[in-house]
Amino acid sequence: MNIAITKTTTPKVMPPEEKLGFGKVFSDHMLRVDWDVENGWHDARIEPFGPISIHPASTVLHYGAEIFEGLKAYRRADGGIQLFRPMENIRRMNNSAARMCLPTMDEADMLELLETFVRLEERFVPHSFGTSLYLRPFLFGNDESLGVHTVKHATFMLIASPSGSYYAEGINPVRIMIEADDVRAVRGGTGEAKCGGNYAASTRAGERAVQKGYTQVLWLDGVERKYIEEVGAMNVMFRIDDIIVTPALTGSILPGITRKSCVEVLRDLGYKVEERLLSLEELVSAMKDGRLKEAFGCGTAAVVSPIGRLSYRDEEYIVNNEQIGEVTQKLYDILTGIQWGKRPDTYGWVHPL
Ligand code: PLP
Ligand code: COI
Repeated sequence: MNIAITKTTTPKVMPPEEKLGFGKVFSDHMLRVDWDVENGWHDARIEPFGPISIHPASTVLHYGAEIFEGLKAYRRADGGIQLFRPMENIRRMNNSAARMCLPTMDEADMLELLETFVRLEERFVPHSFGTSLYLRPFLFGNDESLGVHTVKHATFMLIASPSGSYYAEGINPVRIMIEADDVRAVRGGTGEAKCGGNYAASTRAGERAVQKGYTQVLWLDGVERKYIEEVGAMNVMFRIDDIIVTPALTGSILPGITRKSCVEVLRDLGYKVEERLLSLEELVSAMKDGRLKEAFGCGTAAVVSPIGRLSYRDEEYIVNNEQIGEVTQKLYDILTGIQWGKRPDTYGWVHPL
């Protein structure tokens, strides 16, 4: 792929690493590739980071034709840089595109775009453990007319943000509210696609949770409101007795790459992992009987995040005395060890640059 590069003449100063939040500051450049029906993908270019111009009738502004991904470039202990399972993000991006009638891209081309961009922005990959350069590829429909139909023009972009912890809590347990009213997704809908609309629809419940002192909501299935699905920005796992239970991928939750990796690591550690329907009723009775030993979320931005409190309607349950549990800690250590290059990667997951 031919990628035209125009470098910035005003390089930014990297903020102090201990002050990095999540997604607040951006690197020097952005990448863009255009697509249209006649020419396919063309004009790949990296330019100085800045505002983009968009037609007021553009499809994305009216009908929400937008998908995205999230992955990180990690600074290894030896100073090198690596990605974590980037092909998984690339494939999921193409699956999301297909769901939203947006164009897919050749996997090798997308990888080349990611690699070229990260190499150029190398100095923005922070050095402290736990920090990373968060990469945000996104793709939107860009027809300049108001008809509702499959788009004939689209734009792929990639931006990058040097980031620290996603939650203010860091590795400390978060408080999660089980959402009783709003739903995030239904089977047959767009729940398993990473499209912007899923997040827009989630905001109201998320905001109510924050007002009540919780970090995010835990969604129930959209049909019966009976089964546990996922949290706002992460998949969930529960240690009930000594079995790790995580909701099965039924089509309405995001097939998380961290989830998939956690399942493999846990099984290798000898834990029994069940991917199945988990009802709220079963979870509540496990909490009441003291059989819920640990609960945690997992995702790229959130890494592995212990859940210390769960509430449903007016009941609140404390999990593991609001301490990080043994399995959660072990998983956190192994996964972050591999991602930040502190441990050997026996899985072939890391992708050094
Ligand atoms: N579920 C939702 C709704 C998310 O936004 C994310 C974050 O990407 C995840 C789950 C976890 O997915 P992954 O581990 O691929 O980052
Ligand atoms: C991620 O983990 O990459 C996410 O997309 C979470 C989020 C900020 C929406």
